[in-house]
Amino acid sequence: MFAFAKGSAGSRLAAPDAAGVATPAAAPAQRAGASLDLEDVSLSVPNEAGTVEILRSVSLRVVAGEFVCLLGPSGSGKSTILNLIAGLSKPTVGRVRTAEVDVAGPGLDRAIVFQDAALFPWLSLRDNVEFPLKLQGHAAAARAARSEELLRQVHLWRFAGRFPHELSGGMRQRGAIARALATDPAVLLMDEPFAALDAQTREILQGEVERIWSATRKTIIFVTHNVREAVRLADRVVLMGTRPGRVLHEERVDLPRPRAANDARVSALANGVARRIASEVEKVAREEADDAWVAPGAHGPGDPRRQLGRGI
Ligand SMILES: Nc1ncnc2c1ncn2[C@@H]1O[C@H](COP(=O)(O)OP(=O)(O)OP(=O)(O)O)[C@@H](O)[C@H]1O
Ligand SMILES: [Mg+2]
Repeated sequence: MFAFAKGSAGSRLAAPDAAGVATPAAAPAQRAGASLDLEDVSLSVPNEAGTVEILRSVSLRVVAGEFVCLLGPSGSGKSTILNLIAGLSKPTVGRVRTAEVDVAGPGLDRAIVFQDAALFPWLSLRDNVEFPLKLQGHAAAARAARSEELLRQVHLWRFAGRFPHELSGGMRQRGAIARALATDPAVLLMDEPFAALDAQTREILQGEVERIWSATRKTIIFVTHNVREAVRLADRVVLMGTRPGRVLHEERVDLPRPRAANDARVSALANGVARRIASEVEKVAREEADDAWVAPGAHGPGDPRRQLGRGI
């Protein structure tokens, strides 16, 4: 399952040999993105009242190398979908497949980046990036070459010896992205990775992710509450609804790349998506309300900069 096939043309790291010794190869590692399929996936879990339905009939086909953003209110099952793809949980009904193979559990072909970088505080940035490679038994020289390559890619090479508490939030998230890429996954799962960052740092990191994606052609599933972020980054925005979590709408984003943070076309499309969200939220509220309902703020268009915050 490990990414770096021995002697493969596109690999800096070779797989450990029988003696567990890895040898560095010449070119940078590159495993292209893999397809993902959620086929009519439902998930229910037990609760005090019996069971609670978390996802209902979610079908999503992602082609290899596609950049998909999941956008939706709190509780719509976005993180649950990432967990299913990561193999951390299993659907009650339906299938989850990557590269046409059923997901049986976690694997190095899929990596997750969380909102809080989750770098190990007791390890330097370099050692954090090398950690998954060490677990795989790769030799020090190969690990060092790979961590240098990745830390240069996220512009953190100069800080390789620093510990997480010595880095800014944006630097920690870039470090987490480098660590996620260390094993050269085919699929990168990103769960609100920039939610805790200030707006400017966030925009810079959006540009970084787009650049890394363009260079590596990984398949990326990126969860966000931010409409503009979704439209700026995605080939396709998948809008989720809640109670139970389900897909409400998909919007293809056929805008040229790289996309600037202030691109007017991004703004226009984000406005359209925000309006749709406003009407979906209102529709759900009407369905759930047992008497006449007027959605708050229902008179104006949605604001694309808004966060689809908790509790919507
Ligand atoms: N293992 C579990 N047991 C019980 N309930 C769960 C479990 N996992 C998720 N849930 C519930 O399922 C729903 C969807 O959760 P999930 O975390 O996927 O939503 P989300 O869209 O990622 O929300 P947020 O935007 O707040 O991160 C929530 O109501 C959550 O409480
Ligand atoms: Mg979540």
